[in-house]
Amino acid sequence: MKFVVINGPNLNFLGIREPEIYGSQSLEDINRMIEEFAVERGQRVEFFQSNSEGDIIEFIQHAYLKKVDGIIINPAAYTHYSYAIHDALKGIEIPAIEVHLSNINQREEFRKHSVTAAACIGQIAGLRADGYLLALVGLENYLKNTKK
Ligand code: DQA
Repeated sequence: MKFVVINGPNLNFLGIREPEIYGSQSLEDINRMIEEFAVERGQRVEFFQSNSEGDIIEFIQHAYLKKVDGIIINPAAYTHYSYAIHDALKGIEIPAIEVHLSNINQREEFRKHSVTAAACIGQIAGLRADGYLLALVGLENYLKNTKK
């Protein structure tokens, strides 16, 4: 199975940015952990991070054209207002899981609503980097159970 892991704005600053909320691991550390976990499970993963909405949308479309099996996405602040990313996810028939490092439900009001989660099969929030690993398991099981 081939998956992509997409991270949105400011997540390239993990480790530097508010470590009490997001942890001390850098995005490179997290990606290495995901890669090792995926290899153990016989999965392939490609990583993408961008601070710009348009690039994220282009990458989602590129993932469709490359026929990936699933998408793991942390849209970061775009979670709360990007109808364009919602539409990009909704427009392709590839299952996506939304991941948040922090528990967005325990934070400021504006973080409690996700406009992108409605275009995903599920959402994992508050488990820091483990959320990405659980999303890989979730996508694998989802794909096995929905195989025609
Ligand atoms: C985040 C939560 C968002 O509200 C925030 O804008 C982020 C990171 C998370 O992973 O917890 O940049 O998506």
